[in-house]
Amino acid sequence: LGEKEEELSNEIEQLLAMLPKAKNWNGVELCQYQGFWCQSKYLCGMIRFQRHFEAQDSDIILTTFPKCGTTWLKALIFTIANRSKYSLKNSPLLSQGPHELVLYLDYDLFMRDPLPALEDFPKPRIFATHTPYPSLPNSIKNSNCRIVYICRNPLDQFVSHWKFMVRVRVRNTEPISIDEAFEMACQGRQEFGPIWEQVLAYWKASKEEPHKVLFLKYEDLKENNKFYVKKLADFIGYPFTEDEEKQGKIEEISKFCSFDNMSNLEVNKNGAHPTGLKNDIFFRKGLVGDWKNYLTTSMSERLGKIIEEKLSGSGLTF
Ligand code: A3P
Repeated sequence: LGEKEEELSNEIEQLLAMLPKAKNWNGVELCQYQGFWCQSKYLCGMIRFQRHFEAQDSDIILTTFPKCGTTWLKALIFTIANRSKYSLKNSPLLSQGPHELVLYLDYDLFMRDPLPALEDFPKPRIFATHTPYPSLPNSIKNSNCRIVYICRNPLDQFVSHWKFMVRVRVRNTEPISIDEAFEMACQGRQEFGPIWEQVLAYWKASKEEPHKVLFLKYEDLKENNKFYVKKLADFIGYPFTEDEEKQGKIEEISKFCSFDNMSNLEVNKNGAHPTGLKNDIFFRKGLVGDWKNYLTTSMSERLGKIIEEKLSGSGLTF
């Protein structure tokens, strides 16, 4: 492994030197890799993930565009899939944040270790990634594992992302203005962007293989949460029994994973992720339509129009 790893490191270094670069909204460097923007310092984890990850049929892969509901879906999928192992009173989510329990394959696991011991993970293994569909490793596409994707109205995603980037900006730098961030968003320049490309590719994949890719929207989950908790459970292969339904299990899980409950847990208010990020950073308002408090009409019309044009003909709207 040592030699191979060194070869790969050299290869990545050479690749990185050639890729287009941009500054992310928080000041860190992005590189444009396979058509999407990736943090340069994580390219290595991304490539190792693409080359070495072996999906198992029972895996559940959560794929999302950043700030579209990853934290929420991590909590929901973990809770649904492990409900026979842990009652809600004993849920690991009471002492660990969703991002500690469901790790990113590229940014966490393959970044930390060239060949992480993923075989040892309890089944079902639940992993997350923001990687666009075309760039997922073949073993995810070709095995029987399930892909759950969530996206969100790009205007709300923009505001959420901007607020987040201001908080995680490089130390001693000025926060990016909303106008500057907006300009970059309109050009598709944000981590894992352009958003329209990622959303479209997962949308198409879900149309072609509905048993394999479940396409969700944040707004739908907010509006009809119990319906989607049930749907998620069916999709990942952990359907609720009639008894569970009668006992109100769906509602219990829906409430447990709700913004109000999750954001008020001590671990999410004051705890921190092993990387040092505070957990509360992943819980801001959890609302639909908050963009109206930040964007002018001309801004919302401009981004709305870009999205509409990019998605036209796909049948997908926001
Ligand atoms: P806002 O910034 O609009 O509040 P991600 O988890 O993909 O990083 O997305 C973060 C967004 O999801 C934030 O949106 C955050 O508040 C919201 N969020 C986090 N947990 C949630 C939950 N349990 N229910 C609904 N929204 C949640």
